[in-house]
Amino acid sequence: MNILILGGTGTIGTALTQELLRHGHDVTGLSRSDASDRKLEAMGARPLRGDLRSPGAWVREAARADGLVQLAATFDDGMAEADTTAITAILQQSALRPEPLRMIYTGGCWLYGATGSRVADEESPMRPIRCFAWMQKNARMVLSSPAVSAAVIHPAMVYHAEGGAFSRYLEDARKAMPFEIWGSIATRWPLVQREDLARAYRLLLEAPGLTGHFNASAEAGVPVADITREIARRHGHDGGYVVRSLKHVLLKYGAWAEGPALDQQMGSAKLRSLTGWQPQFSSFRTAQF
Ligand SMILES: NC(=O)c1ccc[n+]([C@@H]2O[C@H](COP(=O)([O-])OP(=O)(O)OC[C@H]3O[C@@H](n4cnc5c(N)ncnc54)[C@H](OP(=O)(O)O)[C@@H]3O)[C@@H](O)[C@H]2O)c1
Repeated sequence: MNILILGGTGTIGTALTQELLRHGHDVTGLSRSDASDRKLEAMGARPLRGDLRSPGAWVREAARADGLVQLAATFDDGMAEADTTAITAILQQSALRPEPLRMIYTGGCWLYGATGSRVADEESPMRPIRCFAWMQKNARMVLSSPAVSAAVIHPAMVYHAEGGAFSRYLEDARKAMPFEIWGSIATRWPLVQREDLARAYRLLLEAPGLTGHFNASAEAGVPVADITREIARRHGHDGGYVVRSLKHVLLKYGAWAEGPALDQQMGSAKLRSLTGWQPQFSSFRTAQF
């Protein structure tokens, strides 16, 4: 398939670009700099210059692809507007195609809010953290458009060899500082390893009949206490920690800090049964980081 990835140079996008190329797909990556051009070319993908916020220049190419994956995010105050602008243009352009465009949109576990003792599945009510509420609306817009055949993936917290979701704790360990726990030491995170997640995206891309929401987690809810204990063991840290209140982290880091402070469990039975997805890392303890 000819696939266009928006965000192909990012944390998840890099792994997906490599996964798709390994499986014989042609990959084009939206790029907004020389550095991103080089990164994409080094992986074997073709860069296409463009920015989420001004889709006029690249959206025609998007609608000519066999598949499109949205993994780009500005992570600033304009994040919602940039995503909405790009998605709206893609849907309008795709409406001119004879066949719907296969599209994978990215949501995230934070759209379910705190789940406590429940394990969120795709039927669970969405209660997104405030600064990501727009993402639920855009997912709905994509899923209801006849111009695309769409699946929305909700990745769990993504970790990888360089850290990802574990980065803050790894940094604390490197500096021999107490682990900074946000909210509560009883907090649980759903987890997925990055390359496992990339495989989930590919399997869904290759199955255009599969539409709707798909959660992607290898572990439903791992206590952050278990994660810091494992990092302490690997890095010679004494395991000491401090708990920061939600109010403290929101003030210090901004509204997004509500996400890692959520006590969440999220299952992925639907993805596993419909695509055959089996994460290689069913426990984070067996992975490199
Ligand atoms: N990582 C996680 O744990 C996780 C979990 C659940 C959901 N998600 C969601 O997954 C998506 C991707 O996350 P990520 O962690 O892979 O993000 P990331 O590493 O920050 O990557 C963001 C990507 O977006 C591109 N980008 C930024 N601004 C752009 C713009 N104005 N126009 C075009 N491209 C632009 C970046 O390109 P440059 O190379 O130019 O910087 C980069 O490729 C996000 O929506 C995130 O909310 C992530």
